[in-house]
Amino acid sequence: MRRTRQAPWLRDMVREHALTTADLIWPIFVHEGEGVETPVASLPGVSRLTVDLAAKAAAEARALGIRAVAVFPVVPAEKKSADGAEAVNEANLACRAVRAIKAATTDLGVICDVALDPYTTHGHDGILKDGVILNDATVDVLVEQAIVQAKAGCDVIAPSDMMDGRIGRIRDGLDAAGFAHVSVLAYAAKYASAFYGPFRDAVGSASSLKGGDKSTYQMDPANTDEALREVALDVAEGADMVMVKPGLPYLDIVRRVKDTFGMPTFVYQVSGEYALLKVGAKNGLVDERRAMLETLLAMKRAGADAVLTYAAVDVAKWLGG
Ligand code: PBG
Repeated sequence: MRRTRQAPWLRDMVREHALTTADLIWPIFVHEGEGVETPVASLPGVSRLTVDLAAKAAAEARALGIRAVAVFPVVPAEKKSADGAEAVNEANLACRAVRAIKAATTDLGVICDVALDPYTTHGHDGILKDGVILNDATVDVLVEQAIVQAKAGCDVIAPSDMMDGRIGRIRDGLDAAGFAHVSVLAYAAKYASAFYGPFRDAVGSASSLKGGDKSTYQMDPANTDEALREVALDVAEGADMVMVKPGLPYLDIVRRVKDTFGMPTFVYQVSGEYALLKVGAKNGLVDERRAMLETLLAMKRAGADAVLTYAAVDVAKWLGG
């Protein structure tokens, strides 16, 4: 076996998988104001950006070869409510960010999360009544949220809320509103994971959740057949692309999903996965660049077509643009 490993040219030639800049999706946190960049303490190297800076950063990312960004709003406390009504405001932060990013770039995909957690005072992804997240009432709002985002110019609607039946309803809603060309990326197999902590800090939903968890709608980490049932439903309802989330601890799911459905399959290297690597590297435990590239390549090897990572800009620079 070592004969094909003896020289760099031969290793390059027999290599089976590759991570390229075209595989990267960069999540961006946007907050209110102008010209302000605030580092997220629990996400080393990640900042919340005002809309003007986010548009500039997106253009820079595109120049490095990154093909898409995902927009996450940090909604000010006074705009949050029990029902998350700000989510359907056409002039909300997420919509303004999409418009600005679209105006500042060409040929850069813009992806928007659909879920109510940035907008609710309780930090849940749906409407909460008597301690229960209401499925169908939430889906009604998600359809409206998807439509306002599409109106703002979003290319890909990405429901991350894990309500039942939302993909079909959102697809129908988009079509009826004249957005048949807008794609749907279903967070199809999204687990109730401990690895979302830094993200919830970044968008300010951790303090709203107050230790509450999302296990009544996100998946049990112990399950794998259930992930296939989730993906099957989302595909049947019209998803164009499906996502598995988190990434590294769930690569068995990625492989099963890819093999079973042959769908465009995206993987989210979530905030906790990213932060642990960054902190480990900072403490000298692993080489940052090698460890980051190795884990992202592992996602490709498992069957991912694209990867969402907070390291996208660094990775694009490492890969040479
Ligand atoms: C919101 C949402 C979450 C993430 C993406 N969209 C958090 C959650 O479900 O609580 C997590 C992303 C990350 O950790 O990087 N529904």
